[in-house]
Amino acid sequence: MKLNRLLAKYESTGRSRAQAWIGAGLIQVNGQPVVNGDFEVTRFDRVTKEEIVVQSGRRAVYIMLHKPAGYVSATIDAEHPTVLDLIDDPDRAELHLAGRLDRASTGMVLLTNDGVWSKKITEPVFKMPKVYRVTTVEPISPGAVKAFADGFYFHTEDLVTQPAELVIVGEREARVTLWEGRYHQIKRMFHRVGNRVSSLHRESIGALVLPSELAPGDWRYLTSLEVASM
Ligand code: URA
Repeated sequence: MKLNRLLAKYESTGRSRAQAWIGAGLIQVNGQPVVNGDFEVTRFDRVTKEEIVVQSGRRAVYIMLHKPAGYVSATIDAEHPTVLDLIDDPDRAELHLAGRLDRASTGMVLLTNDGVWSKKITEPVFKMPKVYRVTTVEPISPGAVKAFADGFYFHTEDLVTQPAELVIVGEREARVTLWEGRYHQIKRMFHRVGNRVSSLHRESIGALVLPSELAPGDWRYLTSLEVASM
């Protein structure tokens, strides 16, 4: 929301008074004076007028979790434990996932209460790369590389998948990079080349690589640099 709009709503101040406060340099956002009424503020920003709090600013939470197998990528589930059960942050109830992993899959999951940030990771338009290590039941045929790059028609969504990179690293082992995240995408792609996934592990999302010291079930907060890198 624009700063002038937020202030105009504050105790029914109205637009012209709000603009006058801003013009007079009375308004600070996160401790810095802001004189542009069109400045965009989010619910995470602290806004003050001469040290009186207009909006306190919610705490933004960004978490990286090493998801173990058996946990559902959801915030609530009647049958199975969820990834949220592993997190003990005080604002846990506000968190959502920036991209899911199937129950049997392992690896990096990001959780946040910042919907603008998570969209950059999940919306296909932002083309955020996600890298997976995959093992398969059958040997991986060299022809699969081109098939992944060409894309597959997915009937349910009525779309052709974006080019994906398949690098064969062993007879039954590969590294796959996706720039989107469709439901069961990797399993469905391997199925289309006559194979089956036996294990799937997400190693990285964008510039973030799952650190080897983060054991399955462990999590940590992202640093502000990591948050900004996305
Ligand atoms: N593709 C899948 O099939 N499963 C996942 O968990 C992620 C990508």
